[in-house]
This record gives sequence, structure tokens and C-alpha cells, in this order.
Amino acid sequence: MTMREQIEAAAARYPDQRSAIMPALVIAQREHGHLPGPVLEEVADILGVERIWVYELATFYTLFHIEPVGMFHLQLCDNVSCMLRRSEDLLRHLEEVLGIKKGGTTPDGLFTLSTVECLGACEMAPVMQVGDEYHGHLDVARIDALLDSLRDMASEVESVEPAFARPPGE
Ligand code: FES
Repeated sequence: MTMREQIEAAAARYPDQRSAIMPALVIAQREHGHLPGPVLEEVADILGVERIWVYELATFYTLFHIEPVGMFHLQLCDNVSCMLRRSEDLLRHLEEVLGIKKGGTTPDGLFTLSTVECLGACEMAPVMQVGDEYHGHLDVARIDALLDSLRDMASEVESVEPAFARPPGE
């Protein structure tokens, strides 16, 4: 199915097209990897809603990416529970081992590092989301093991496009 067909099918479940913006953005991001302006406008046109409504949602939620992200988007929670369990140390460690700052992407296009608000999994603090998966009870050793496994996963992909391959599951 084309993106338009998927969005129209999703939108048919809602009495108000404005309510379908979120699922439509999820579909569009799955198709394009991120959500540049022309894609947002296309989503608005398909749904027949104001473009500003689509922009508002796409720029509010960390779930959506206006800019390209790496193959693996590391979203470390820095809200209260995770902060109390030393997420700041983990952020520093990630910045050091990846050689990038928060908000950056590694030159090989593998990792983008972000911090996000509460992921709703405080019982596993500190928590990081990678694609659709949560990784909890993190410490430096677990972070290193996770990065190794993600690198292994990437090496199994025949060719990772340097211009930011689409994150799996996103
Ligand atoms: S504060 Fe980090 S998951 Fe809730």
C-alpha cells in the first residue's frame, strides 16, 4: 500500500480527521525515516486538515523526527526518576564513547543521541528507548553491551546508507 492508502485507511477509523494526524505521522515517518516539511504538507493534504496542526504535533513529540536520525536513535530519559538513578552519568558516557554531543549523529550515520522526557517506565530507571524498544536498569556496562549489539546488528545489514538509514521499527 502507498503511504496515501495507509493514511486513508487509518483515518477512516476516526470521525474527526484531526484525530488521525498522530497515526498518519507514524505511517509517514515509517515510510520516509523522518518528517521533512514536504512530507508534513502531504500528510495535511491527505487528511484535509490545516498544515499548522500537523506541524504542531510533529514538532511537539520526541517520537517524531523533523531532521534525519541515525540508524539507531538513542533516546535517554533524563526526567526525575532516571535523573535520580544517574542518567546524567550515562549521557556523559554515551557522548564520550560515541564522540558526539546530545542531539548529534555519529559520522557513520549509526547513532543519534537525544534526551527525552519520562518514557513512562520509571520502574526500570534509568531507561533508554532505541527504536521501539526500551532498555532499562542501565549502567555503563549495559550501555556498552547494548552499543556492541547494535553495531553487530548494523554490520549484518548489507549496506547502511551513510545518509542516515531508516531506524528499524520506526
Ligand atoms: S523518569 Fe525516566 S522513565 Fe520515567
